[in-house]
Amino acid sequence: MDLQVLPLVEKKAPIADESKLVFGKQFTDRMFVMEYDADRGWHSARIAPYGPFILDPAALVFHYAQEIFEGLKAFRRQDGSIALFRPRDNFERFNRSARRMCMPEVNVDFMLRALKELIRLEADWVPRSEGTSLYIRPTMIATEPVLGVKPSERYLCYIILSPVGAYYKGGLNPVKIWISDEYARVSPGGTGEAKTGGNYAASLYASTQAASRGYDQVLWLDAVHRKYVEEVGSMNICFLYDGKVVTSPLKGTILDGITRRSILTLVSEEGIEIEERALSVDEILDGVESGRLSEAFGTGTAAVVSPVGQFTCGSRTVKLAGAGELTLKLYNRLTGIQYGKLPDPHGWVETI
Ligand code: COI
Repeated sequence: MDLQVLPLVEKKAPIADESKLVFGKQFTDRMFVMEYDADRGWHSARIAPYGPFILDPAALVFHYAQEIFEGLKAFRRQDGSIALFRPRDNFERFNRSARRMCMPEVNVDFMLRALKELIRLEADWVPRSEGTSLYIRPTMIATEPVLGVKPSERYLCYIILSPVGAYYKGGLNPVKIWISDEYARVSPGGTGEAKTGGNYAASLYASTQAASRGYDQVLWLDAVHRKYVEEVGSMNICFLYDGKVVTSPLKGTILDGITRRSILTLVSEEGIEIEERALSVDEILDGVESGRLSEAFGTGTAAVVSPVGQFTCGSRTVKLAGAGELTLKLYNRLTGIQYGKLPDPHGWVETI
């Protein structure tokens, strides 16, 4: 498929102060867009000026939430070059989400070519300061205007770019987590593994309540027993428990995180045993109190590796000391590879 590059009419001012970058509020000058319809497949691929879409109010995405997205990052490396972290894995997961949501798959090689071209054009927007990056949001939405509940016959796929700082205001400061034993995010057989907006919409009510009580994130428990750890709103979660790294297994209800996968590889390279198993909320609360659980951290593209400092479930609160030794080591190794300060033995990084 051809990739057209449309002229840019107006260039926005570049990033004024990188130390003030927050997550996902500022977007670059251009975006990638392509369209799909059942007769023609994907077509009209273009890099166009960033701007609003005109969509029919009946478009299926607005009514039945047929949409998927991805999150990956480009990093400015020490030598000034720009690198993507495991981009192929993201587009492969995009296709898995597409299958689950009855949406058309994309060609991974073409998406990578388009993304690299987009970033080459927007290279000035890749920040240079420590801890900053260019967050990349591939998205697909159902655009057919019809009110029947059915898969759309038309779609829009686009990629937007946002220069970002740390996802959490406190950077590497430990986050406070509220464990929700009342609300559930997804259930077995549902869409928990797909990166689709509805999963995040379903999390908003509990997240808002948690935020109003001063918590950064909600930890979701399994919907059947309301007992076993699943994931946190914007990240997977790992625990250092009895000297082993314990994390929830991939069984369809949590996101198959690319940062999660990378971190588990780094953990096994540290010679630490990994247990992918259901960890109960009691094991967390009792474990922190007894000292068996010594560290907890979230993993995600946006969140990177985020130490957890506190868990609250109902009337019970337990606190961990600041970012633990393993958490910091994993953070430094992962970001070292991403920013080109450490070797990349697994070939995770693709320079542009
Ligand atoms: C990411 O880490 O890229 C995510 O998509 C999480 C998020 C919803 C900000």
